[in-house]
Amino acid sequence: MSETRERKDYTNSPLCLSGRGVTKIFGLGDKKTVAVDHVDFDFHEGEFVSIVGESGSGKTTLSKMLLGLINTSEGEILFQGKPRNISSGRKKREYWKGIQAIFQDPFSSFNVFHKIDSVLLDCINMRGGRMLSHEKKVEMMTEACSFVNLKFAELTNKYPFELSGGQMQRLMIARIFLLKPRILLADEPTSMVDACSRATILDMLLDLRDETGMTIIFITHDIGLAYYISDTVYIMEHGRFVESGKADEVILNPQAAYTKRLISDVPKIHEEWDLSTVELKAE
Ligand SMILES: Nc1ncnc2c1ncn2[C@@H]1O[C@H](COP(=O)(O)OP(=O)(O)OP(=O)(O)O)[C@@H](O)[C@H]1O
Ligand SMILES: [Mg+2]
Repeated sequence: MSETRERKDYTNSPLCLSGRGVTKIFGLGDKKTVAVDHVDFDFHEGEFVSIVGESGSGKTTLSKMLLGLINTSEGEILFQGKPRNISSGRKKREYWKGIQAIFQDPFSSFNVFHKIDSVLLDCINMRGGRMLSHEKKVEMMTEACSFVNLKFAELTNKYPFELSGGQMQRLMIARIFLLKPRILLADEPTSMVDACSRATILDMLLDLRDETGMTIIFITHDIGLAYYISDTVYIMEHGRFVESGKADEVILNPQAAYTKRLISDVPKIHEEWDLSTVELKAE
């Protein structure tokens, strides 16, 4: 991956997830916090979107609404152009087949009492592969592990807590490889790993998008990272989108004062994300 990676224009691609006036208010009266304040967005099929903002700007709150884990206070979320209906448990489970998440802390994503092969087997079963032969399942798990540079044979019979933080994050991506959701929401999934593994994981997410055409929504406070990886960026400040558009247009020619400040906090955006050096070191 390099600076010159071509960014496609997704404006005319089919809609995947949209929002109109999406708002979340926590608490009442004096204790009221408007965490997300009337945001509008259109994410398209296959688009790599980053939502960038400082701590407390509302990124995780918005992700939780997108996932249907918390209700919106106002506004509407549309899935594939139609109002999303997750009013019953059954409808929610149906929706979750299409959207999956990787969270900040990978350890929270796994049941620690389940061995790794059963974590991966669950993914195959959830995708309707329950009746496949054992050999076929092992082949699929091996493929998913090798996609993220893990060796399935070395992982069988291990528990998640026996892996390193970086291996856990790769295992999460292996799960996504098996689940193949239409949308992947990744809330700062790289926070636990060093810069080299981080570049590797980001490359894996891009490969996953290229291979499956899934939409990736990447949540980060790091505008350099967003520039490196995304087609489109949404810049979030105090619950609002202050600016959005093609990553290179927004970041190389920012209009909002907030975006300019985020960029000035990254001392040398070009040098830092010149990946010719990082890629050499990556595994
Ligand atoms: N359950 C809650 N109850 C009350 N306030 C909340 C709740 N969850 C979040 N908030 C508030 O909403 C605002 C946005 O929080 P959020 O977690 O969405 O920020 P963030 O952008 O994800 O930050 P970070 O980069 O630190 O993860 C903050 O002011 C936070 O205190
Ligand atoms: Mg957060």
